[in-house]
Amino acid sequence: MILQTIKKHVENVIFDVFSYSITIEYAKKGDAQLACPLFQLSKEKRLSPVVVFNQLETPLKNIDGVSDVTFEHGFLNIYLNQQHLIYHTIDAIKNNRYLSENKEKEVIVIDYSSPNIAKRFSVGHIRSTVIGASLRRLFRFLGDEVEGINHLGDWGTQFGKMIYAYLHYGDEGMLDEEPIAKLQELYVRFHDEEKLNPSLSDEAREIFLELEKGNPTYLALWEQFKVLSLKEFDYYYELLNVDFDHVIGESFYESYMNDAVKEMEDKHLLVLDDEAMIIPLGDDMPPALIKKKDGSTLYMTRDVAAAIYRHKHFKASTILYVVGNEQALHFRQLQRVLDKMGYEIHIEHVNFGLVLQDGKKMSTRKGGVHTLQAVFDEAILLSKQAIEEKNPNLEHKDQVAKSVAVGAIIFNDLKNEKHLNIEFNLSNMLKFEGQTGPYIQYTSVRMAALLRQLDPVVHEDVDISSEHAMALSMVLNQFEDTLIRARSSFQPSMIARYALNLSQTFNSLYGQQKLITEDIRKSQMMLSLVYASREILNQSMRLLGIDVLDYM
Ligand code: ARG
Repeated sequence: MILQTIKKHVENVIFDVFSYSITIEYAKKGDAQLACPLFQLSKEKRLSPVVVFNQLETPLKNIDGVSDVTFEHGFLNIYLNQQHLIYHTIDAIKNNRYLSENKEKEVIVIDYSSPNIAKRFSVGHIRSTVIGASLRRLFRFLGDEVEGINHLGDWGTQFGKMIYAYLHYGDEGMLDEEPIAKLQELYVRFHDEEKLNPSLSDEAREIFLELEKGNPTYLALWEQFKVLSLKEFDYYYELLNVDFDHVIGESFYESYMNDAVKEMEDKHLLVLDDEAMIIPLGDDMPPALIKKKDGSTLYMTRDVAAAIYRHKHFKASTILYVVGNEQALHFRQLQRVLDKMGYEIHIEHVNFGLVLQDGKKMSTRKGGVHTLQAVFDEAILLSKQAIEEKNPNLEHKDQVAKSVAVGAIIFNDLKNEKHLNIEFNLSNMLKFEGQTGPYIQYTSVRMAALLRQLDPVVHEDVDISSEHAMALSMVLNQFEDTLIRARSSFQPSMIARYALNLSQTFNSLYGQQKLITEDIRKSQMMLSLVYASREILNQSMRLLGIDVLDYM
């Protein structure tokens, strides 16, 4: 956008005069919009800063859009022509020209959500889903080629246990209602019984080996568990408005694992350790366990096969794994194994913190009932009550209540850096003021209401500059930089913070001056700024996965 263009011009002028590259910053204090220190340059060129400034002053002042240039306390300050900046900002957004070409396009695989079948969807999986989906939208928006994969946990010795438990303690009818909760209970029961009768482990192991070989009875049961689980998971995906490009579970890699293990063997990486196969990874981390004593494969084995598959099949050089902090070691090991195998695959563990309630790890298990859905239901109910109070005549209240509740949960998740723990407090996150989803949604609704009063018309000759209009234009100009930083740090929180900043900046303009006045042309131009602000705010919300509303 215009700010970047002017910044580039300034940098070019300095380069032309002194053959010296400098990076101009957005001024944090004072009235100037751009600034940079001249110490380094003057030292390098053995000229006093004042001399440097004198040589730059005229060519800088000649740049289109620059109104003044000053030198204070060793800093070069650049003042922009406000009317010019506001007009060009609006113009770029209105004509959808606010992103530059992404030069470093990449093929990126994002592995997110990835719950385990026959187990409940946990709050941790909600975090993975929300963060991963947001990154997928961000990368795609910036022009990268993205493959979003739901790497279902649908394979491993636990399914031997599951099937054993179902055949011995379960019956068909039990899966008619809340099947996942029931399956999880069976699994817990298996572990209790196993403590009394250790030979159960061998039986379960035997069942899994049979399953791996394709035993039809076991396969049919496993298939049924999978279908039931996906049905439950889809409830969350629909609610959160989340898509995947592929749902490829761990079981898919069954036929790729032999090759991967063979390759490790050929590369002389495998070592026998008490009949198990491991890869020693050096002094700074424990070895990777590739095959157990009984020949069964592990989570790690499947992750190695999956990474190689993604690299070959999707031509991905970077794979993001959106998984909690607690699996940090696993992904460091995975990277090391792939390095040792000679693959150029970059593993990025997009880690995140816990979900806390009153400072303690949030539990959605109360007396065996599944309460995560109940948490969402409560959020929707609370937001419905708030809407009922604020706007009783609103149409489609249920739909809006759902959007507000889900937006609140998503924003609460994404507003802080992802590696931090988040506090899950429904009444706080549903407030219409403060750092919340509803606050952002409400700001967009307020903008929509203004735009219904008067059509925005862009007038290049009309000056609407003011401190607040200028501040807002500056924030709009920082959208792309924000996205680029979010992309390179894998932090959707940067977009969330940006949306908050944009909302606050708009609301101070709204609070400080009347936007629609007698002066119709001025009002139309002002509404054009509102329109541009709404475009960018809505785009930020969409990237986060928060619904955009016209009324609430
Ligand atoms: N299913 C695992 C869990 O719930 C997460 C899988 C993450 N992805 C991966 N490729 N390891 O803990």
